[in-house]
Amino acid sequence: MSEPPLLEVRDLRKSYRVGGREIEVLRGIDLALARGEMAALLGASGAGKSTLLHCLGLLDVPSAGSVRLRGVDASSLSFAQRARTRNREIGFVFQFYHLIPELDALENTLLPRWIGPGAGPRRSSWEERDRAGALLGRLGLGDRLLHRPAQLSGGERQRVAIARALFAEPEIVLCDEPTGNLDSRTGSEIVDLLLALNRESGKTFVIATHNPELARRCPRRVRIEDGKILDGARVGGDPGPGHAG
Ligand SMILES: Nc1ncnc2c1ncn2[C@@H]1O[C@H](COP(=O)(O)OP(=O)(O)OP(=O)(O)O)[C@@H](O)[C@H]1O
Ligand SMILES: [Mg+2]
Repeated sequence: MSEPPLLEVRDLRKSYRVGGREIEVLRGIDLALARGEMAALLGASGAGKSTLLHCLGLLDVPSAGSVRLRGVDASSLSFAQRARTRNREIGFVFQFYHLIPELDALENTLLPRWIGPGAGPRRSSWEERDRAGALLGRLGLGDRLLHRPAQLSGGERQRVAIARALFAEPEIVLCDEPTGNLDSRTGSEIVDLLLALNRESGKTFVIATHNPELARRCPRRVRIEDGKILDGARVGGDPGPGHAG
């Protein structure tokens, strides 16, 4: 018997009720992601990319259909189990970084350890601080560990956000417009970094983006239109530089 996909949604639907009117955003999404995949999630503004990411990341609950992580239906989990699964298995990177202004880069990276079960502010072990420092070093911020977000550039802030997403070593990293707030050169550097991290770590990345360079360089592209996956075919001829050699 073959292993189930790492992350899979089946006939996923999501509607919102606003002012007594039902808006159907996702109308039957089917998508399977294997371990180590790197997929760009494309579609017009309002197509439902963020909505799908929130469902994939167990931040939001679909109106119908299933989200399965290693074959386990998320709807079968209790609230606490969902939260634990999310903390352990899924990292998030957002357009506007969502860093805590009062904390430095190292502390922001350690943040998931502060809010998880059994964690508390500044109770990180030396081992954890070393690991966070090494991770920030890998992301090119070795000499910025004690800088607060206001003392960092946009690209540097996004690197800290990436470090925070990776710190718990999640299997899945969901990124929502990670280059949306960056100039094209800095955005390109973040694209390089995401591709390298995918290659090095074998983690699965799903990246909602309007950035054509990021879309082009992702080995897989999934497009949402009219609430469905229009085109999620694997791209045969152009695996992208991230997968060369
Ligand atoms: N909490 C909510 N309540 C009501 N409607 C919502 C809510 N969240 C999203 N929507 C609606 O769902 C649709 C999809 O929103 P979503 O944010 O997923 O789009 P998107 O593809 O991420 O767009 P963008 O590229 O602009 O980020 C939009 O029409 C939006 O207005
Ligand atoms: Mg969005």
